[in-house]
Amino acid sequence: MGISNCILVLSLLLLGIINSISCEKTPCEGCKDLALGILKGLDQSKNKNFGGGDTAWEEKRDLKFRTSETRLVEILETACTKDNYQCNKILEEREDDIEKWYKDLQDKEALQDYLCVKTAKVCCPENTFGEDCEECPKGDSDSICFGRGKCEGAGDKQGSGKCICEAGYAGDLCNECDERYFKSFSNDTYVMCTLCHETCQTCTGGNATECETCRTGYREEHDTDDEKAFKCVDMNECVEQRDLCPVGQYCTNTVGSYKCEDCSESCTSCFGPSRRHCYNCTSGSIMRIPYMCQDIDECASGAICLGMYEVCVNTPGHYKCECARFFRRDPVSGQCQPDPAIYSRYVPERPGKKTEKKSEDGEQCYGDECHDRKDHGASRHSVAGSSDDGDSLSDNEIKKLIFAVVICLLGTAAAKGSMFWTLMFFLSFFSAGLWWASDKTDKIYESFSHPHFKQHQEL
Ligand SMILES: *[C@@H]1O[C@H](CO)[C@@H](O)[C@H](O)[C@H]1NC(C)=O
Ligand SMILES: *[C@@H]1O[C@H](CO)[C@@H](O)[C@H](O)[C@H]1NC(C)=O
Ligand SMILES: *[C@@H]1O[C@H](CO)[C@@H](O)[C@H](O)[C@H]1NC(C)=O
Repeated sequence: MGISNCILVLSLLLLGIINSISCEKTPCEGCKDLALGILKGLDQSKNKNFGGGDTAWEEKRDLKFRTSETRLVEILETACTKDNYQCNKILEEREDDIEKWYKDLQDKEALQDYLCVKTAKVCCPENTFGEDCEECPKGDSDSICFGRGKCEGAGDKQGSGKCICEAGYAGDLCNECDERYFKSFSNDTYVMCTLCHETCQTCTGGNATECETCRTGYREEHDTDDEKAFKCVDMNECVEQRDLCPVGQYCTNTVGSYKCEDCSESCTSCFGPSRRHCYNCTSGSIMRIPYMCQDIDECASGAICLGMYEVCVNTPGHYKCECARFFRRDPVSGQCQPDPAIYSRYVPERPGKKTEKKSEDGEQCYGDECHDRKDHGASRHSVAGSSDDGDSLSDNEIKKLIFAVVICLLGTAAAKGSMFWTLMFFLSFFSAGLWWASDKTDKIYESFSHPHFKQHQEL
């Protein structure tokens, strides 16, 4: 046998040991499995017999088959699963008893009682437990554990006989009420527990006014007329206790408790989720209006990002120096250089003249080369403008809106049947389409109409 085979066998053995330790059955459980296995085997083989034959013989044969040795051997072969150690052990030890039951007692006695309680003596009769088969606890009640629980290990010599109570019940006999339950009815032999109102920890009844003590997260609120009467009301921990949450978080009340949640990125301490709920602002933002942290627009100072063709882009709490449109940062020199992709068509004429000035939409442009590019700068919208999120209509959008209204009016006039207005309607519709198309091809268009390009051609 090779070493690998050896290891395999060893690990299988180990597995078997671990298995038998972790889920070993008690002898009684093994015996019950055996009894069930035998009964199942009997049931499955009850319609079989020794094989075909004429009817006269059959009844006699069937009688014989019922108690035949062959049938029993077959049944016992499959009665226990292989891994059920206790089952197999009892089968081995009690084969004679089983055979006796099979031959003589099948109709007279239940197999489990006969085998497990009387002969093998590994189980106890129902509702008894332990080595001496004591009665499960009842108290004065007629039922085990007051009918509100189970007797642990009942019927097993290894059982503990403790009452395991249902929800709401407690005590050795399950005749007490658990926390948050009250006795809604009880006499010497019977008990019924009912859940308190959700605000009570202990109570005398199910009503909100019947709390004895309040649950955590709730506090007593006394009646104005009757000093003794009170209700339990949700406590706002955030108001009643201070400093529940760490710096950088704020407190929100929940039913029966509270939660801590993160402040907005703009503040270091706050009382709510947004940047309008700040006590202190993070560096990079400033409080101009009480409790509101506004991002500082570093780009507005104009004294940063002074590299050639660089633009300042404001970010929350910070700013970035990026290359202007159609320029790219050269990885070697770190300087902004014309983007080779459009270099052939777009050559800036006087890069030395560096009087920086920003157009309204934040586009970078140089000296007298500045021109109105508002229509084309939508993607870089509001870089240096209002740092807030409110969007206003651009000129371009207003123009489009007016155009749409005009087309609508023309359309209405045309609908009356006038040839002239119909013509006007189609004409304006067509030109609007053209305009829209030219807007889309903005880049191509711009590269030809741009002053740089023109100057270049003139030279
Ligand atoms: C206790 O209450 C139960 C349930 O109502 C009832 O069946 C039983 O007779 C009562 N026992 C006594 C002693 O009053
Ligand atoms: C709870 O108590 C109030 C006042 O005592 C009463 O009006 C109400 O009906 C009670 N509710 C229940 C479910 O017993
Ligand atoms: C935050 O602001 C409060 C006043 O609103 C002030 O007392 C506190 O010292 C500030 N904390 C920090 C860390 O600046």
